Amino acid sequence: MHFSSLLALALAVPALLASSQTLDAAMTGTAGRKYFGTAADPGVLSDAAVAAVAASEFGAVTPENSMKWDATEASQDTFTLDTADALVEWAQTNSKLVRGHTLVWHSQLPAWVSALTDKDALTAALENHVTTLVKHFAGKIYAWDVVNEIFNEDGTFRDSVFYNVLGVDFVALAFRAAAAADPAAKLYINDYNLDYSGPKLEALISLVNDLIAADVPIHGIGSQAHLVAGASMIDTLATPLQALADTGLEVALTELDIRVPDPADEAALAGQQGDYEAAVGACVAVEKCVGVSVWGVSDKDSWIPDTFSGYGEGLLFDDAVEKKPAYEGAMAGMGA
Ligand code: G3I
Repeated sequence: MHFSSLLALALAVPALLASSQTLDAAMTGTAGRKYFGTAADPGVLSDAAVAAVAASEFGAVTPENSMKWDATEASQDTFTLDTADALVEWAQTNSKLVRGHTLVWHSQLPAWVSALTDKDALTAALENHVTTLVKHFAGKIYAWDVVNEIFNEDGTFRDSVFYNVLGVDFVALAFRAAAAADPAAKLYINDYNLDYSGPKLEALISLVNDLIAADVPIHGIGSQAHLVAGASMIDTLATPLQALADTGLEVALTELDIRVPDPADEAALAGQQGDYEAAVGACVAVEKCVGVSVWGVSDKDSWIPDTFSGYGEGLLFDDAVEKKPAYEGAMAGMGA
């Protein structure tokens, strides 16, 4: 091959790479991590455009609601796993890792669980729930969010039936049951507002260190990263993420979205692009950060508008399931 042809090919490589790069390829290839994921469930995947993007761009999927306690064990010891099975089957068909979400959480919890005041009864119910779900999906789950959102903003433990009846021991109980049911799964503690230093971050790190010291089988910390565009702490996200990684566990951004005032103008979307570059870049800057999951594919299916009135458009794909500037920001954060 002539020199000129070789030179032309060499010059074309970056463009070819850019055109072939997907979010997951950028995270696993360029950034050398495990996955770039999203959240979904069979409902949103029934939209062909969403399913196509989910299949082509992402390497992991978290069930947005189908594995939660209210969806899986609405009545004691009666398990309904067909929707979660469908999500896991989609993931296996499309070669996606699955982040199980979430075994023990104060929200989306059936009333029969919240009504348990007897320690032995709640212990049995918690162990049965965790064991049944983790065994059912054993071998198919990369990581489980074993406990979710157990701290208040001031670092105290959140009032929940689990903490109020069992004390902090509920945490080790859940992790030990999950490890016994699927020794191969990575077991995470997951929470939000871990994006800056403060009492909540410190309390979680302190608990993790206590769990490690007690030989509790815990492997990772999920920082949800539900962010507001323009927030100053986005540029320093690597600092708290590194503090979490300094426990020795793997870490991940597990529910990333960066909401903007709705409807977003060009300037807001440009700002969001920079925020996504910084947020995804924070994971890449922390060696133990195994991946980023955004909390949904398209803005049209996001939880944000129902929760934060006047805000939305927090994801990488718009209502028409087209790439937003935020997509390029995420790519830039991975060095792609
Ligand atoms: O399943 C019922 C359905 O039967 C009913 O017809 C419909 C209308 O009332 O509601 C459906 O339940 C909804 C559920 O999502 C399933 O779609 C709930 O109302 C709704 O509140 C629930 O929202 C979810 C929210 O968690 C609940 O707190 C969001 O989709 C989900 O994105 C969000 O995800 C959480 C993570 O699990 C934990 N971290 C925070 C994150 C955002 O809140």
